Amino acid sequence: MNVVLCGMMGAGKSTVGFQLARLAGKKWVDTDYLIEKRYGKISDIFASRGEAYFRALETDTVRSLSQKDGLVISTGGGLVMREENCALLKENGKIVFLRAKLQTLLSRVKLDGTRPLLKEGNVEEKLTALLEERMPVYERVSDLIVDTDGKKKYEIAREIFERLEGAL
Ligand code: S3P
Repeated sequence: MNVVLCGMMGAGKSTVGFQLARLAGKKWVDTDYLIEKRYGKISDIFASRGEAYFRALETDTVRSLSQKDGLVISTGGGLVMREENCALLKENGKIVFLRAKLQTLLSRVKLDGTRPLLKEGNVEEKLTALLEERMPVYERVSDLIVDTDGKKKYEIAREIFERLEGAL
């Protein structure tokens, strides 16, 4: 079985995924990293080919990962917005939503200016709008919701490990 981490930019999907994989004896993969390794930087993909092309690369990546087993998969923040991606991931995996409040996300994404969706305009406004649109989807598609505000990354990884025990 795979464990799939979803949630907003800045939710900690990569760091928590890495730690969870160690705890669970699984291999960690990150969809953004896989795409960048093959196609170059995400900000360049957005700039030269547009978001729709990036979303298609995400679906290709998901299609190949869903054939595999024993993975912890950290996903890009928009990946589970496509029903098709969720259906593929659920064939062989549990989806975990790393839920975080706006202020928590803001404090994390502000440190890093690499995200194309937050590049122009006011970061807080953009993040607020995305959070509003995506929260119901994250909540609906996930098998497990973990509140992450005020928790350390290793605590979050341990909580997921404990709450999924038996399924892992
Ligand atoms: C995106 C989130 C990013 C990356 C891309 C689009 C999104 O990943 O996939 O910039 O739509 O929320 P992180 O969630 O890892 O920042």
